[in-house]
Amino acid sequence: MTHVLHRQIGHSYPVACGGRGVIIRDSTGKEYVDASSGAAVSCLGHSHPDILAAMREQLDSLAYAHTSFFTTQVAEQLADDLVAHAPKGMSQVLFVSGGSEAIEAALKLARQYFVERGEPQRRYIIARRQSYHGVTLGALAVGGREWQRKQFAPLLIETHHVSPVYEYRDRRVDETPQAYGERLVKELETKIEALGGENVIAFVAETVVGATLGAVPAVPGYFRRVREICSRHGILLILDEVMCGMGRTGTLHACEQEGISPDLMAIAKGLGGGYAPIGGLLMQEDIFQAVAHGSGAFQHTHTYMGHPLACAAALAVQRVMRRDNLLANVRAQGTHLSRRLKERFGNHPFVGDVRGRGLLQGVELVADRGTKEPFDLKLKMHARVKGEAMARGLMVYPTGGTADGTRGDHVLIAPPFIIDGGTIDTIVERLGEAIDAATSQIR
Ligand SMILES: Cc1ncc(COP(=O)(O)O)c(C=O)c1O
Repeated sequence: MTHVLHRQIGHSYPVACGGRGVIIRDSTGKEYVDASSGAAVSCLGHSHPDILAAMREQLDSLAYAHTSFFTTQVAEQLADDLVAHAPKGMSQVLFVSGGSEAIEAALKLARQYFVERGEPQRRYIIARRQSYHGVTLGALAVGGREWQRKQFAPLLIETHHVSPVYEYRDRRVDETPQAYGERLVKELETKIEALGGENVIAFVAETVVGATLGAVPAVPGYFRRVREICSRHGILLILDEVMCGMGRTGTLHACEQEGISPDLMAIAKGLGGGYAPIGGLLMQEDIFQAVAHGSGAFQHTHTYMGHPLACAAALAVQRVMRRDNLLANVRAQGTHLSRRLKERFGNHPFVGDVRGRGLLQGVELVADRGTKEPFDLKLKMHARVKGEAMARGLMVYPTGGTADGTRGDHVLIAPPFIIDGGTIDTIVERLGEAIDAATSQIR
């Protein structure tokens, strides 16, 4: 009998014992191809010798020093590195221990910024439906995954949700992608005007939607217009790049491909590649200056912020990514993965759409390709696919709630950046078998 409160109580999890490259091995010796990097985390794969060496070196000098007493060389170096490669105008980074913490910090810094500027009336956050920003109360409030928020609703801060960019289901047949994007931007602007632009703190969005919609990028021009509108109303744009950032879509930051720079940006997951828990909040210089010349401190600290071991891991990940030119591999293998997925599932009776960017690809499952009707909730199709994939030695990341926050299923494929074409072929082959097996009873 386990004393761990596992994600699914009563589910029997294999015991992970070892890993190397894109493979994880369990206690029975069975091997799994990690085609999802866990949850888009292990960007350099497992047991990377250079990351382990950097972490050992840090441990040999200092494991921990509380940030109210000290800074550390490794935290300073990591901040320098991240700021040097950050979107335009960003000057500082706050280190936390994961994605939810980074979002929580973003919401609070945005609010404090306006208080410091003498605009304390600003209190509303606008975000998008079918988005995921984490599980802590602030992050959950801005998230738009209905089934996950529902029971906690009485505890959540007031957040206003607008439509996500979800071309597969929501773009009208008579609409160009640009016209669709413009319709969504109008919806955002209408919401801002209804709340009063002077009362809104921020608009929060994932640059490429990860876990909730399954690797859905915005339509061309959408984010440029969102940027314009936020700036016009003096509202902060907070981008959540916890999943889609740090190289996952083929550029270090996903927003580079949108040609915009946010006011605040949350990063995590691939930042430390799973070698240590770490997240970060990057901020524009003017936000930093408002706090620096105002109260002088962001009122938001954690015991483990800037943990030296986590910073050492993240710094080593950044250096290896550049040394080994891994962004180029993300782009090349991302193209290969997308092509192979489209070949395998383009005519599959239970796959409605294949989409994504770089090594963040998604396959949406439907009961009927013609009507796009999702599978019956009771079938738990995403869980079935996961089980069938694991049985075949394949880790992918299937999730439910795709279509409307409750119904719908998709599978996320997000392999480590060190993946090669042959392994991608194996992934697609095993995923095809898993989806066929999971859907075979309903044919
Ligand atoms: C886009 C996004 N934001 C925030 C989070 C929350 O991160 P964490 O699980 O590290 O708290 C996640 C996690 O999946 C995510 O995908």
